[in-house]
Amino acid sequence: MTGRFRPTRVDVDLDAIRHNVKLMKPATAELLAVVKGDGYGHGALAVARAALQGGATWLGVALVEEGLALRDAGIEAPVLVLSEFPRGAEHDALEAGLTPSLFTQLGLEALSGAAAGRSVRVHVKVDTGMHRVGIWPPEDAVGYLDRVAAAGLELEGLWTHFAKSEEDPPTTEGQLGRFLGVVEAARAAGHVPRLLHAANSGATIRHPASHLDLIRVGIATYGIGPGPGVGDDLGLRPALAWRSAVTMTKRLAAGERISYGHRYEMAAEGLVATVPVGYADGYPRAVSSRADVLIRGRRCRVAGAVTMDQLMVDCGDLGAQPGDEVVLLGPQGNEHVSAWELAGHADTIAYEIVTRIGERVPREYAG
Ligand SMILES: Cc1ncc(COP(=O)(O)O)c(C=O)c1O
Repeated sequence: MTGRFRPTRVDVDLDAIRHNVKLMKPATAELLAVVKGDGYGHGALAVARAALQGGATWLGVALVEEGLALRDAGIEAPVLVLSEFPRGAEHDALEAGLTPSLFTQLGLEALSGAAAGRSVRVHVKVDTGMHRVGIWPPEDAVGYLDRVAAAGLELEGLWTHFAKSEEDPPTTEGQLGRFLGVVEAARAAGHVPRLLHAANSGATIRHPASHLDLIRVGIATYGIGPGPGVGDDLGLRPALAWRSAVTMTKRLAAGERISYGHRYEMAAEGLVATVPVGYADGYPRAVSSRADVLIRGRRCRVAGAVTMDQLMVDCGDLGAQPGDEVVLLGPQGNEHVSAWELAGHADTIAYEIVTRIGERVPREYAG
């Protein structure tokens, strides 16, 4: 879908991506930029290229399809698929040189069958408390590594994932301790992977001890902290701005009610502007009458229900006009709407806000 006519777009600053990668990368560890979910809504390919320019040496995706798209576009850097290849995907994924995660017996058998004697490097994942995917209990990991070696697969990585690294130090320290226990037992059994990794953005910022050989940085790559206020002092630069323009204005008397359900009432006479963006674009309906947008450098409240394709804004005494820029996310003048601010109004997290910006909103790149 192109954005030739509607003035709604997302601007992505690739210099900010490079800057954030440089800022996050410790001297002692490699950096894997997580570009799943179409680069957290920013556009996986452009972000991947910028992250590699900024110093990332690995990319991380959730789906084999996402990895194949990077390869089709000519990206040659190592790409880790963060879950096992789905059954049936092994051949295509290995042909494309995607790096598999492994943690089940079925996954191991399917992969070693598809490897058919060729040398394949794998990253074995241990569950240390997130309880999503990975070997559980962690004590079973060494037996699994024995079977990986017996199958002729090369153990390049051993990894885990934290459940609440941005907010709760004891839990993360406990998970890290468990993981290091597995590493020690693996070493004692003769398994010495080149890359130990655990840290996401939260752990990268708050738990330097978890940096190990490689950090897997998602949200901070995009210049957004992993929790409200977390990392605000680091100098991350948000890469994404979501912009539109006023299509229509009207003056409404006090007491007039706006949008579906008539749930917003004009407290005083004022100007109401219509903006061509709605929940079909990923602007959450949950922020109806709560979120602010920026027009002429001023905050204006979303007035009433966000509709599928349009929303209305109470501009009060602001002399807004059709064509005026509207900022839904990002800076304008001295004001700024952050992804965490919008997320707060929608009772969600910044990750979901940026990742759900719809496909019909064109991404435009600078830098
Ligand atoms: C396995 C794994 N590693 C790393 C990340 C990156 O996390 P964050 O975006 O918090 O840095 C994710 C994202 O959810 C993930 O699933």
